Amino acid sequence: MSVSEQGAPAVPRHIGVIMDGNGRWAAARGYPRIEGHRRGMEALRRAVRAAQDLGVRYLTVYSFSSENWTRPADEVGFLLTLLKRFVRNDLAELHAMGVRVRVIGERASLAPDIRALLDDAETVTAGNDRLDLIVAFNYGGRQEIVAAARRLAEAAARGELDPAAIDCARLAGELDTAGVPDPDLIIRTSGEQRLSNFLLWQAAYAEFVFLPLHWPDFDRAAMEEAIREYARRERRFGGVGAGAPLTARTGS
Ligand code: FPP
Repeated sequence: MSVSEQGAPAVPRHIGVIMDGNGRWAAARGYPRIEGHRRGMEALRRAVRAAQDLGVRYLTVYSFSSENWTRPADEVGFLLTLLKRFVRNDLAELHAMGVRVRVIGERASLAPDIRALLDDAETVTAGNDRLDLIVAFNYGGRQEIVAAARRLAEAAARGELDPAAIDCARLAGELDTAGVPDPDLIIRTSGEQRLSNFLLWQAAYAEFVFLPLHWPDFDRAAMEEAIREYARRERRFGGVGAGAPLTARTGS
């Protein structure tokens, strides 16, 4: 079914996805882990198309965490290769689809050729406005907050910033996601129920949907299922709430 058939759009403006379970998907089939990641890349393509079709405006995907460097060298190498392949092979299509590509995470320590590819993908697609695809690569939420706090502290030490002027908006403006609305919905596949250092600050009021399938099996139907679940939630943002789930409140 299409989500709009419910008579209530209730489509999240921003969805974050923790693409988990590639390794388990592969192990269950007797394949090497990297085959799970390769198939995970195909699932990522389906997710981008589904998000755009369903009217999602921002999609942030967790593709490599700051902690993933501890994985075996061949797996890390393959994930770096996949990132390069994704940018090289898919950029033209993403651009034609009106997708703006952004990359968040620590970039300075990546190899110069990867940095150049990422910079190029951002520059080429900067004018697009149908869907922002935000790829979290070498990303960690704590590291992002620390870097933001350090920049503010440096500005204060130089006498350019009054510490009393530091508030939530000011700190958010220093994060990699500056200018991007907070995620409304975070989806994690493979049944694990944790955030794993993903969008720690930004997820303050996100709804979480945990899907039992492994990431390589993710498709449009899975995204619709997560959005339906999101639409049933009552979001209160710390207040007492309007007393009705999103479907009822946003219905025509
Ligand atoms: C988690 O599954 C997945 C990752 C660490 C990598 C995600 C990468 C992709 C979906 C491919 C697209 C990649 C890029 C770079 C664009 P896991 O390996 O932790 O699975 P497990 O928990 O079952 O072992």
